[in-house]
Amino acid sequence: MKHLLKLADLTPEEIFAILNLADQLKYERKNNIEHHYLKGKKLGMIFQKSSTRTRVSFEVGMYELGGNALFLSANDLQIGRGEPIKDTVRVLSRYLDGIMIRTFAQKDVEELAEYGSIPIINGLTDYCHPCQVLADLMTIREYKGSFKGLKLCFIGDGNNMANSLIVGGIKMGMQVAVACPQGYRPDAGVTEWASKTGSLLVTDDIDAAAKDADVVYTDVWASMGQEGEKKEREKAFKGYCVDGRVMSLAKPDALVLHCLPAHRGEEISEEVLEAHAGEIFDEAENRLHAQKAVLVKLLK
Ligand code: CP
Ligand code: NVA
Repeated sequence: MKHLLKLADLTPEEIFAILNLADQLKYERKNNIEHHYLKGKKLGMIFQKSSTRTRVSFEVGMYELGGNALFLSANDLQIGRGEPIKDTVRVLSRYLDGIMIRTFAQKDVEELAEYGSIPIINGLTDYCHPCQVLADLMTIREYKGSFKGLKLCFIGDGNNMANSLIVGGIKMGMQVAVACPQGYRPDAGVTEWASKTGSLLVTDDIDAAAKDADVVYTDVWASMGQEGEKKEREKAFKGYCVDGRVMSLAKPDALVLHCLPAHRGEEISEEVLEAHAGEIFDEAENRLHAQKAVLVKLLK
């Protein structure tokens, strides 16, 4: 494993190894066991979109591993004035030990990996969000013990979260069901791969997707960069809400997960979010542990 560009690039064994290391790092942190595996290492963090969890968990993660993180807002870098990515990364490769980037186009992340000579980590693109799904898988295993026989249901937009959940879920052997409106389906390449590899249902029937689910996942109707589509998306996604009715279709002990930030009253009801705040904020905490595992795997 040289980079983390998308989950599709990882084998199930590599994902399990990250999850196991994440569990170990969580244990070491909780028990104040020093874990400076990245002493003296430097991570650059390029952000072209906002972030709370990704930024803070990567920065704190590098600190806890004995290294350093630099926050690089794309507006302040020369990238914002048009310096090509392939030049930027060849320069940054001379200073840093790794780069985490949050941006729009997946091809920009792939280009960093192609031209740079250090590990590149995808901190979210329009296409996928692998770091989030590693934390999600860690949380599911923490609560359920294993992935065996589980049904993972996603309700919402078929973009970055759905794409990564489908890939991660199928690779871990879960049955995956995705409910999204026509016109907001997950990536065709992802669904084609998933249907060939495991069990995937893509539907606009929320009830069918939620039925007997062990994990119910949702995400915002309008993602970062789609603010201009807010009105039309409110219409298209009306009813795509994880509320008490949807939860009554899932298994009685079903988990609710959300990558956050959440819009109460849109994709999730206030009641469901608060009733499942335990696992949702464990999931947010697990970003830290899962990403520390990725950093150790790539930078050590
Ligand atoms: N879930 C997630 O990536 O959160 P941030 O946008 O706050 O980083
Ligand atoms: N789909 C959301 C995920 C945020 C973590 C977005 O891209 O804004």
